[in-house]
Amino acid sequence: MNRRYRKTIIAGNWKMNKTLSETRIFADELKSLMGRPKWCEVVLCVPYVNIQAATRLFKDCRVSIGAENCHYESSGAYTGEVSAEMLKELGVKYVVIGHSERRQYYNETDFTVNKKVHAALEAGLRPIVCVGESLEQRELGVTLELITYQVKCALSRVPAEKMRHVVFAYEPIWAIGTGKTATAQEAGEVCETIRTVIRKLYGARVARAVTVQYGGSMNPKNAQELLAQPDVDGGLIGGASLKPDQFVEIINAANQE
Ligand code: PGA
Repeated sequence: MNRRYRKTIIAGNWKMNKTLSETRIFADELKSLMGRPKWCEVVLCVPYVNIQAATRLFKDCRVSIGAENCHYESSGAYTGEVSAEMLKELGVKYVVIGHSERRQYYNETDFTVNKKVHAALEAGLRPIVCVGESLEQRELGVTLELITYQVKCALSRVPAEKMRHVVFAYEPIWAIGTGKTATAQEAGEVCETIRTVIRKLYGARVARAVTVQYGGSMNPKNAQELLAQPDVDGGLIGGASLKPDQFVEIINAANQE
């Protein structure tokens, strides 16, 4: 973390978990456990159907609400899809773009990721852009090249003045939901690479202000060490964000003075 230049963001990614009633129970529990985080922003990215309730439930405890995806068009004949504009009007602040599960199961490509980044920024949402390598790619030694490619594609035609709204999440696919975590050094190296790519594209001042998260089995045990890396500015947390006590422990790790 480097709080001097950029915000630390702890974001939960609920994926396809929690009904409306479970969301209410989670909110009550979280509120009873969580203080007012001073040094980091807390975000919960929840299923579309829980967004409206969540914005109300978490209003008084400074938790921002995010969506887990959006479409790249603002409206039109796209049955079953939701636009960034629709999310904005519900009070959504963040939207996860290009999560590896969407790349894997729903044909998300670097090209659609770029279109969605533009759509999110256009609507006034902050995209959390996910990048990350598979185990095979890591073993082939192409991780940093791949990440560079993904970051460049995601940011194609994004103007410098919009960059303060963009968040990146480095999520090694082999670490998601597996209980395997990248070492702090591995996470730090890739997050640093993401910042280097941004620096080459936009200059040092823009690059140092961008929040770069780590995601992939982050939990109360490893959070502190990962967050101690200078280029790891928070986490995108799946499994551990479903349990209020674990999520609060990670928030606390990010919130230490
Ligand atoms: P995990 O998920 O924390 O359960 O590994 C992270 C993510 O997919 O964002």
